Amino acid sequence: LKSIAVLTGGGDAPGLNAVIRAVVRTTIGYGFKVWGIKNGFGGMVENQIIEMTDDHVAGILPRGGTILGTTNRDNPFSYPQLQAGQTVYQDMSSQALANLQQRNIEALVVIGGDGSLKIASEFYQLGLPVVAVPKTIDNDIPGTERTFGFDTAVGVATDALDRLHTTAESHHRVMVLEVMGRYAGWIALHAGMAGGADCILLPEIPFNIDSVIAKIRQRQQRGRQFSLIVVAEGAYPLGGEVSVSRIVEGSHEKIRLGGAGEKLARQIETLIGVESRCTVLGHVQRGGTPTAFDRVLATRYGVAAAECLLEGVYGNMVALRKNEIIRVPIADIAGKANHITAENELLKAGRAIGICFGD
Ligand code: F6P
Repeated sequence: LKSIAVLTGGGDAPGLNAVIRAVVRTTIGYGFKVWGIKNGFGGMVENQIIEMTDDHVAGILPRGGTILGTTNRDNPFSYPQLQAGQTVYQDMSSQALANLQQRNIEALVVIGGDGSLKIASEFYQLGLPVVAVPKTIDNDIPGTERTFGFDTAVGVATDALDRLHTTAESHHRVMVLEVMGRYAGWIALHAGMAGGADCILLPEIPFNIDSVIAKIRQRQQRGRQFSLIVVAEGAYPLGGEVSVSRIVEGSHEKIRLGGAGEKLARQIETLIGVESRCTVLGHVQRGGTPTAFDRVLATRYGVAAAECLLEGVYGNMVALRKNEIIRVPIADIAGKANHITAENELLKAGRAIGICFGD
């Protein structure tokens, strides 16, 4: 290999820059020419590709976001284009590949989550040598025990809970913290455990409002006039639905989550008259400097991806298992998600100490 490229796709996550830095430094060390594709897969279609040097990655290790830019809208296999004032979606994958060929780029490192992994897998099937790095604050990519960005998000959510704790106690209120996690409640589970939540509501366990109310009442009877509830944005009540709003763009429908926490707070007030407030943490969880753990993990992933390139081993995602970096075929994980199961050790620990999971 002489020439490789790297891109960051999907929503950002703290640690992206640490991966880019590790990929660039390691591959330059192997004597490769390194290209950075700007703005995710959209930049691959639009030919936004720059040559990267050591200077591009100097000082970026602690910085949040991604120096390459990203977007979670652009899929080269169904790419939005304006035609006569209308958005139409076309397969632009050959254009994207031609832009790489034009620079003799022989392999691609994709740092991304579920959507990006699917696209990476499709390009790999078309013959493009690909290596993937698992990114998402949600930690819901299968094949790995950790995605980078998760630890930082959990830290932010835990800090928020600590702060909510003191004000909840002072005002005798129920404080609901809504955290990210559409399909999987890893952030809610870990932050809830770390921040001493009384109830943790996950997308994996449809919750019974009666159980939540019973928990608040039980605490009141023991003299605790406040409660802390962590709810994942994708959590929903038994027999109910996820709180979503839909945005239609051309033939594509996008789903925005949000509102689960506020709904719950209003319901608690209505049912038992305890003053309740909701805090939606939102993108605060995704921004800012990565934790030491995420910086180290991201760096290990970046180096491991570069090693795949050096060995000519493609079609894999680098992953963490039992604190070792391994390789997992992208084809085995693309389109799948890693959910919390009833057997999860942390979930069981939560039950053991009396946390209510709404079931
Ligand atoms: O997948 C990561 C994530 O942060 C989810 O937890 C969240 O639902 C989503 O991205 C938010 O996406 P957007 O930045 O497009 O609002």
